[in-house]
Amino acid sequence: MRLDELTALFGQLGFPRAEDRERPPRDHVRAVEGAVRAGLSDDELPLELLALEIERRDGAPDLAPFHVIPDLGVRVAFAYWRPGRAAGAHEHSDWTVTAVFHNALDVATFDWDATARARRLVPKRLFSAEAGRVGHIHGPCIHDPRNPTPRWSISLHLFGPHDGPVIEEQVGPVEGLSPPAPRAAEPAPQADEDALSAALASHERECVRRAQIDALARRGAPAAALLARLHARGDAGTRRRAARALGRAEDLDARTVLARRWPGVDLDAASSAGRAELVARCGQRAQPLLRVEAWAAPALRALASAVELRPRDIPGLAEAEQLALARALVDWGTFQPLEAQEN
Ligand SMILES: [Fe+2]
Repeated sequence: MRLDELTALFGQLGFPRAEDRERPPRDHVRAVEGAVRAGLSDDELPLELLALEIERRDGAPDLAPFHVIPDLGVRVAFAYWRPGRAAGAHEHSDWTVTAVFHNALDVATFDWDATARARRLVPKRLFSAEAGRVGHIHGPCIHDPRNPTPRWSISLHLFGPHDGPVIEEQVGPVEGLSPPAPRAAEPAPQADEDALSAALASHERECVRRAQIDALARRGAPAAALLARLHARGDAGTRRRAARALGRAEDLDARTVLARRWPGVDLDAASSAGRAELVARCGQRAQPLLRVEAWAAPALRALASAVELRPRDIPGLAEAEQLALARALVDWGTFQPLEAQEN
């Protein structure tokens, strides 16, 4: 299935135009759900959707649509879920079709009527969804998806044009309810962003690319062109991941010269609960980057003060440990191999 076939289905089913306030019948939303499920069971649709996503909104915020169906206002978007991320309980008032595109999500749902009466969240059910699982919402619903796994997850969303908050307009504040998912979030203003926030935002963007790489890695040869595109755009950590998915070796060795990035951010070796931590700091803001046994503190102090270093120069560690530490910092983006500085 291709996106134009999925788009044509909306016309065949007679979905209302964006300016009509009516909601399509539930059976029609179910038909879209079935088509998305069938489409995701093959490689063609997932690759086409990811290609559009990668081209049209590289680095854009979560849920920014990469495609809007003309006249109907149906928005198609991906969301990315770092390990442990929870959306917060939020409402949908129109129809949606949602799929787990990569990895897995847990979804808690809440009883709308009981929640409205009590003006606090009343749980209904909790289910786990693996990649390929597709569901729909038709009418008011409150749910809270979260990624319970240690890996990134990706979800695919089709939203009707009139989704928005209604429950608090009807009954007043509801305890525990989060704001609705953003319609088409704009990038956060950057002007007053501190150097650490900018570095972490850049890292987040690389993590999204790496999740896309993981989603592509199991799709074989047809995914190679997209993997190559992500390889070309990514930082050294992203390139290493893309190269592995393409079946190529591209890794650090003990002699690779690593250069510090993140200008304006200080690194600091601290101790916490009997362990040693490498912490990135900028003004009041601090981000722990890694935590090791206390005996390895000299290695972290050497990294904190280095402008350039090779893994084999990290003191007090065996070579495998030196490389593991170096890879972790390259994955953060704090250090990059010298030849990768143009990225
Ligand atoms: Fe949602």
